[in-house]
Amino acid sequence: MGMGGNMRILVVDDELSVREFFEILLKKEGFDVVSAKDGLDALQCLRDEEFDLVITDLNMKEIDGMSLLKESKKTQPEVPVIMVTAFATTDSAVEAMKAGAFDYLSKPFKIDEIKLTIDKALEKKKLTSENRALKSALQSKYTFSNLLGESEAMQRIYDLIRKTAATRTNVLICGESGTGKELVARAVHFNSNRKDRPFVTVNCGAIPENLIESELFGHMKGSFTGAVANKQGLFEAAHTGTIFLDEIGELPLQMQVKLLRVIQERNFMRVGGTETVEVDVRVIAATNRDLAEEVKKAAFREDLYYRLNVIQVKLPPLRHRKDDIPLLSEFFLRKYAHETGKDIRRISPRAMEGLMTYDYYGNVRELENIIERSVALETSQEVQFESLPGNILHPKAQHEDFSVREVQDQLETGSIALDDLMEAFEKDLLLKALEKTRGSRTRAARMLGISTRSIRYRLKKHGIGDVDEMREAGLDVLDEATECGDEDSGAEDSVVSDSRDFVRK
Ligand SMILES: Nc1ncnc2c1ncn2[C@@H]1O[C@H](COP(=O)(O)OP(=O)(O)OP(=O)(O)O)[C@@H](O)[C@H]1O
Ligand SMILES: [Mg+2]
Repeated sequence: MGMGGNMRILVVDDELSVREFFEILLKKEGFDVVSAKDGLDALQCLRDEEFDLVITDLNMKEIDGMSLLKESKKTQPEVPVIMVTAFATTDSAVEAMKAGAFDYLSKPFKIDEIKLTIDKALEKKKLTSENRALKSALQSKYTFSNLLGESEAMQRIYDLIRKTAATRTNVLICGESGTGKELVARAVHFNSNRKDRPFVTVNCGAIPENLIESELFGHMKGSFTGAVANKQGLFEAAHTGTIFLDEIGELPLQMQVKLLRVIQERNFMRVGGTETVEVDVRVIAATNRDLAEEVKKAAFREDLYYRLNVIQVKLPPLRHRKDDIPLLSEFFLRKYAHETGKDIRRISPRAMEGLMTYDYYGNVRELENIIERSVALETSQEVQFESLPGNILHPKAQHEDFSVREVQDQLETGSIALDDLMEAFEKDLLLKALEKTRGSRTRAARMLGISTRSIRYRLKKHGIGDVDEMREAGLDVLDEATECGDEDSGAEDSVVSDSRDFVRK
């Protein structure tokens, strides 16, 4: 113990000798001690002043320890309560813990055990208070509906979201992967007057092209093979609410026409249907592509672009608002320390420096992953620089450009691992080729002078798999990109088998 400074403990027992025992023990450790001779007395104390810990006897006349526990959970919910009893039975122990007691001590006491339990209880109290303080600080200025950030850029985004709240205007959210587009979409909906109505998310990039129309607009029984019953589409499901069209840039051109129609006319027809269905749906779309550029290339319809782009929320990459890194890191630290039950409170100054210098091409998602990983690896009470991932520890590797000369230099001074190096080089080139061909394996193979069979083998070896994984790796890939349009059957390359997995309501 010995951490008593300013900590107040309430001791409740109807036996004078027990009260005295605790008073002596706790005062010696530097705590302020208040004693109550029964439950009634204790209730008065709880109403009058704040405590950091309550230690109470279980068996007392009139108001017993159980009732006191319940009462203290009401008046001072964060204060841990330790139960003391001479009649330890598992039943009463279980009951007390269920009612929220922190722990349970039985007489006769073992001093070491008492000290340890008190330490742990106070530690927990401190953590919950700190957490609450952080939360309320966060809630005031730096957050908006789960979006965190105190930078000017984020403040402007909060303003914009607020302005859209009272309207039903369409919103287009742009930004690199992991910048929080989905969080913004939710914030727009849940701060609008539609917040109690449905919010339906559609990942346009994940639904097979031939199913998109029926997913969005529903179909009539028998309208195509597999249409065994009438089915409602997502637009109908979102009626009176909001539909969030994620990765809108992936929507095929002929679907863009149909989407434009719903937005303009506020009605549509089901696949195979003859009646028009009226809907009132607010459309929020998101993309990590430069849609204006896509319009220029005729890959995205200009008229639809203007319809969607009534209000544009442009999320800045994390590397352009680095002042938000400490706040986000602290937040993720608390989240993952809590989730893993680890007692890690801080990020060391050196580790924070490392986090500030990194470029985060995966943006907030990448930062979150980094903190999660560091918390998992950390063995001390502070995230140390050494627990950060390699690309922060050795910033040079981040660029992945290694020249032959550099490798030769390394050989001069020490040794290299040739196989690892060759593998890394191969992977780098594969990714670069795919980037150039926007994900087309056939063309990438041609570019590298290898067969499509060979490129498939190599991609598999490096774990570069389907379109989604390539996007994760930061590649800007086309929808049908993975197809090797020759001797290979497409089966293995198909992106999704069941679109339902990708549609969340
Ligand atoms: N400003 C923020 N505050 C708190 N958490 C954030 C913020 N921005 C992003 N995140 C977190 O980062 C992760 C990625 O966010 P989100 O899914 O909204 O990104 P996205 O832009 O939709 O990415 P993608 O284009 O890859 O779909 C989520 O776990 C989200 O909670
Ligand atoms: Mg997203």
